[in-house]
Amino acid sequence: MLRFENVSFRYPHSDSSVEQLNLHIHKGEFVALIGSNGAGKSTISRLSNGLLKPDTGTVYLDGTPTTAIRTSQIARKAGFLFQNPDRQICQNTVREELAFGLKLMGLPEAEIQDRIADALGRFSLDGDWFPFSRSRGERQRIALASVLVCRPQLVILDEPTTGLDYKECTAIMEYLTRLNREEGLTILMVSHDMELVSQYAKRVLVLTGGRLIGDGAAGQIMKDRALLGKAHVLPAQIPALALRLDEGKEKPQFSDVFTIEEMFDTICRLRKKGDSEAGKGAALS
Ligand SMILES: Nc1ncnc2c1ncn2[C@@H]1O[C@H](COP(=O)(O)OP(=O)(O)OP(=O)(O)O)[C@@H](O)[C@H]1O
Ligand SMILES: [Mg+2]
Repeated sequence: MLRFENVSFRYPHSDSSVEQLNLHIHKGEFVALIGSNGAGKSTISRLSNGLLKPDTGTVYLDGTPTTAIRTSQIARKAGFLFQNPDRQICQNTVREELAFGLKLMGLPEAEIQDRIADALGRFSLDGDWFPFSRSRGERQRIALASVLVCRPQLVILDEPTTGLDYKECTAIMEYLTRLNREEGLTILMVSHDMELVSQYAKRVLVLTGGRLIGDGAAGQIMKDRALLGKAHVLPAQIPALALRLDEGKEKPQFSDVFTIEEMFDTICRLRKKGDSEAGKGAALS
């Protein structure tokens, strides 16, 4: 779906760059991109959707180099949520905001209206709201709805949950997870929030100083303290606790634990096992 082949890019009049990036994101994957401030995460997002073009190497979107297709064509395949929703929102009402991308796609009016009605319901939005007078969380939801209403095959989400409270964050992440699982939406999510990454992403890319230093299953990367340390990222609390509990153990018992539910289930299972062994001991004595 998205492939970087030996991609290097440097901002004009700046030392900041990404160097020799090679990565391949397949259809239907849910990938997180992590790294400290200034590591180049947003730069990779902008290279992915054609807003920036590589100095050397090639970015392929669905098999075609981004340099060979117009930005409007890229937008049909890849939706992009900016790190700051106010850079995205440009219309005076939520309804107009949702219609904006659909009109550019040239869809028939009836379909535009159907999709808008559907998105208003799914994201609990009012079509008459003036976006700029809404809260940060609502503006984030409006921006995300205006991306997903176009039904792209790939979404690139730059810090999608910034400014959202816990309930809003969970609702949006569950919705994205459903689209990923049931409709095969490919997701590339940039995030600083390791709790979020370890709970939702299946694969994690680790970036530091414009270079990719890690790429693997979320379970493996989220427990690789040395790698996370190199990227100046702290592990999420539950995987960190799981690592502590397994420290020095011959038979690790928490190696598959990444979420609160998994920790709870594992502790209940171990307690049950402990109780039944104690019961057996009592029966024997
Ligand atoms: N338009 C620009 N011109 C010059 N340098 C830039 C520009 N945009 C970003 N940079 C620099 O490029 C580097 C990578 O920036 P980028 O925004 O990709 O980092 P990031 O990983 O997204 O950081 P953050 O976590 O703060 O969002 C940084 O050193 C940044 O200062
Ligand atoms: Mg950024």
